[in-house]
Amino acid sequence: MHERIRLSLAHMGGKELDFIQEAFDTNWVTSLGPNVTGFERDLENYLTSEKSGELYVVALNSGTSALHLGLLLLGVGAGDEVICQSFTFCASANVVGYLGARPVFVDSEARSWNMDPILLEEAIRDRLKKTGKLPKAIIPTHLYGMPADIQSILEVATRYEIPVLEDAAEAIGSEYLGQKCGTFGRYGVLSFNGNKMITTSAGGALICHSKEDAAKALYYATQARDEAPYYQHSQAGYNYRMSNICAGIGRGQMYVLEEHIERRRAIHAFYSEKLRECTGIRVMYNPDYRFQSNFWLTCIQVDPLLSQQTNLQIRKKLDAANIDSALLWKPMHLQPLFKEAPMYDNHLCDDLFSSGLCLPSGPMITDDLLNRIVETILHD
Ligand SMILES: Cc1ncc(COP(=O)(O)O)c(C=O)c1O
Repeated sequence: MHERIRLSLAHMGGKELDFIQEAFDTNWVTSLGPNVTGFERDLENYLTSEKSGELYVVALNSGTSALHLGLLLLGVGAGDEVICQSFTFCASANVVGYLGARPVFVDSEARSWNMDPILLEEAIRDRLKKTGKLPKAIIPTHLYGMPADIQSILEVATRYEIPVLEDAAEAIGSEYLGQKCGTFGRYGVLSFNGNKMITTSAGGALICHSKEDAAKALYYATQARDEAPYYQHSQAGYNYRMSNICAGIGRGQMYVLEEHIERRRAIHAFYSEKLRECTGIRVMYNPDYRFQSNFWLTCIQVDPLLSQQTNLQIRKKLDAANIDSALLWKPMHLQPLFKEAPMYDNHLCDDLFSSGLCLPSGPMITDDLLNRIVETILHD
């Protein structure tokens, strides 16, 4: 039997160990040190453009911590409502509950599979009518690396003066109209866990647009310590800072980021080409020139009537051939945890969940392996 083909494995470029070695040699093995600040500067340089304006990045121990701190800085608290994309990973919605607030879910639009701006506006108006209050924040996700229609989402958000926290955990390097995802909202979030575009083994980052916001994030991420010669705390903080060892991995990974993006895009192009003629299987694609996905994972949608197989059957065939695949994220409004939460629905994400599949997309998957995956999908 061949070695199993994994969905999305981390890949080290080689320089990571140099940065870790340096941290060991200089005894910076804690949650501060030159790798942490170095990684933050690397990310700022990578993300900043004329369109984004100046950026300040705070390196944290996970994308989830970054989402939590982003909402905290937006002043979300008990009794508030926060609008989330239903079609996302649970972390985007769980953090709302950490602060005693309640998530309100909005369905996706068919082109990007991300938050539908029209439903978003309906949801805001309806929440105002039902609760007398505007939602406190909006969390769109750039799922699987595909940019949300962030311009239209920001237009709605600006109209109602509601801040946006962008969940770009899966979307480092993706662009909307030439601007990097994660740099549009008041705050943006990246994840560097083991299956992402680049990894720090575990880690994340909060992208801010001012020094003051970044300083506040850092304060909460390091136990909210007052300025005093002893440990004094006026507010509850968190232990959310990235370690200098993890940041060393991140600094090394920055050398291979562009290469990883290029390869994942090539993998997406390969699947698109090979599955083009296959009736009933649609490979997700950039809807128009504004959207440039990093194609973190290539996803397909399977029409069982036209293709005469279901996504579950394809998954089973791939598994039997020792190939990983994954069903698309189960929408949040279908999760037992969120069954009481309001949902503004067009049934799109239900449909995506029941018909979609993520295919192996890691940067080390060769064309030979891709051919094997495609053959397995196409044949009984
Ligand atoms: C869309 C999305 N949001 C948030 C997260 C949370 O990131 P982390 O695992 O680094 O906490 C992830 C990744 O796991 C994700 O895919």
